[in-house]
Amino acid sequence: MSHSLLVEHRLSKEDKYKSLIPQLESLVSGEEDTIANYANISAALKMVFNFFWVGFYIVKKEELVLGPFQGTIACTRIKYGKGVCGTAWKEKRIVIVEDVNLFPGHIACDTASQSEIVLPLFYKDEVIAVLDIDSEHLNHFDEIDAQYLSKIVKLLEPVF
Ligand code: SME
Repeated sequence: MSHSLLVEHRLSKEDKYKSLIPQLESLVSGEEDTIANYANISAALKMVFNFFWVGFYIVKKEELVLGPFQGTIACTRIKYGKGVCGTAWKEKRIVIVEDVNLFPGHIACDTASQSEIVLPLFYKDEVIAVLDIDSEHLNHFDEIDAQYLSKIVKLLEPVF
């Protein structure tokens, strides 16, 4: 089946998310392959918001391993508790970093990145992956992003 996205450029950030989410729901609902869905969600977020870097790290044993993403080449492995991604995994919470230069232990895959949001994906209360989004602008992410990106990662979590 072919899919395309329709989100008007002139909308506010919140309205873009509101327009995008039902379309993403339809995009992933017919596909059970996790990697395929992570890949399309990364592409959709890049297309609509033109984020500097957007992608997934997947929990494999004691590390996060790079998954589908859109952007510049990135670190392939992140240890539990390390960097922003490893912190979101360890603390099982959304982490918003207004200025990555001030975050102790931030992993700079690309020095152009200035701010970041990371959301964990869960299966039965365990983190199975994280969605990582980087911006080349300081203080780019806020509670609106956290609220709507949470709904997007929910679409990707396995159902019980
Ligand atoms: N900055 C992240 C590493 C991943 S890259 O940004 C793509 C971190 O500190 O976990």
